[in-house]
Amino acid sequence: MKTYPVVKNQEVEVTITDLSHEGMGIAKVDGYLLFVDNALPGEVVEIKVLKVGPKFGFAKVMHYIEKSAHRNEEINEDLLRTGIAPLSHLDYPSQLVFKQEQVENVMRKVAKMPDVTVLPTIGMDEPFGYRNKAQIPVQRIQGELTTGFYRKHSHTLVPMEDFFIQEKEIDEAIVTVRDILQGFGVKAYNEEAHEGFLRHIVVRRGHYSEEMMIVLVIKKTKFFQADKICAAITKALPKVVSIVQNVNEEKTNVILGPVNRVLFGKPYIEDQLLGKTYRISARSFYQINTVQAEELYNYAINAAGLKETDTVIDAYSGIGTIGLSLADKVHHVYGMEVVEEAVEDARTNAEINGIENATYLAGKAEKVMQQFAREGIQANVVFVDPPRKGLEANFIESTVQMKPEKVVYISCNPATMARDIALFADKGYKVKTIQPVDLFPQTHHVECVSVLVKK
Ligand code: SAH
Ligand code: NI
Repeated sequence: MKTYPVVKNQEVEVTITDLSHEGMGIAKVDGYLLFVDNALPGEVVEIKVLKVGPKFGFAKVMHYIEKSAHRNEEINEDLLRTGIAPLSHLDYPSQLVFKQEQVENVMRKVAKMPDVTVLPTIGMDEPFGYRNKAQIPVQRIQGELTTGFYRKHSHTLVPMEDFFIQEKEIDEAIVTVRDILQGFGVKAYNEEAHEGFLRHIVVRRGHYSEEMMIVLVIKKTKFFQADKICAAITKALPKVVSIVQNVNEEKTNVILGPVNRVLFGKPYIEDQLLGKTYRISARSFYQINTVQAEELYNYAINAAGLKETDTVIDAYSGIGTIGLSLADKVHHVYGMEVVEEAVEDARTNAEINGIENATYLAGKAEKVMQQFAREGIQANVVFVDPPRKGLEANFIESTVQMKPEKVVYISCNPATMARDIALFADKGYKVKTIQPVDLFPQTHHVECVSVLVKK
């Protein structure tokens, strides 16, 4: 059997040297890596080893011998335990530096571009209570419908009513809806037995409009007393404009099932972003931090230096927020998006805002881009805002064929962005700037914009 420098349950004093991508403290014992919850760089701590694996292990802090000057002492440990706010023990200015360094790291290690300047992260004045959406699991604990959040890497519910990073009106709505459902005798879903009724309560709220959508994720199609329940919810929460039953019958970790049934009101909410109005359906993507999304898009649009004659492509367009925010400045916008409902939202959103120079296509960005290249559509500026896995190589290929002057890359995963930037660099595109924007304060998630210019 292979031996390691530490064994399970051993207690040892260590100095934390680094913070992992997920926000865990890193310590080394004779070169062996240990990940430690709630421990910050510079701290000297006595730890107990919880788990020893072939490459690294996990430990927890028993005593703090020396604490970091950057520690935020005011936090609730449930926020770390559940992974809701895994950086909340670090003060906010240090969180912003941490994110800038994450981007610098991938630009050095993944893109092999150590000389690119990464600007200081744009942060929030009030870095909490910002989430405009919540997806809250429901369980039965001691006979009561209970809401909270799962403990990290488990499905053990930690009961919770103050979620810290969600808009407080959403926290209040969850408690109100939960208590109404409890009053009607609604049963919680039980994962192990795969029986019961209510799985999740999902809330979406317009940051400016204050409109709310409540989605009840339910294991069954039949929903007795739905009318009475809706009446009680809208009476208690007058800002609710939409109540949707989502049916999820599967034994799965995926929150939403395939079928949505509107129980009350309209199938969407509306909100404003950079002065335009957007319709947002249950299934469409919408940035969860409205104020910082405005910062992000503003920066990206200004950095693009758009001209009236420009043709712009908005790839991975969602409900159209980026393209419609800049449509007034350019000749034409083409958007593409794979979720049909989001494409319909984007078309409606163009109409609501009186925008006539935006065209939206449903389909995979890779496919649509090839079609554009074949049809000879010539874009001067291409915006991309892909999901975490980044761009497909053939998307980059078709984009380069089109010879745009600029590519504006918006990313929620710096590692795949760095990989893609290196591919663009091989085809003659140079990085002008990289700007991280903090859309997810108190968490380890990093969003950034990079402007690539044709040499
Ligand atoms: N730009 C939008 C959406 C960004 S999120 C906004 O800022 O709100 C990424 C979007 O890409 C999602 O709407 C997702 O549905 C879509 N998507 C994922 N894979 C895709 C693909 N292969 N082709 C086109 N769109 C895709
Ligand atoms: Ni991550």
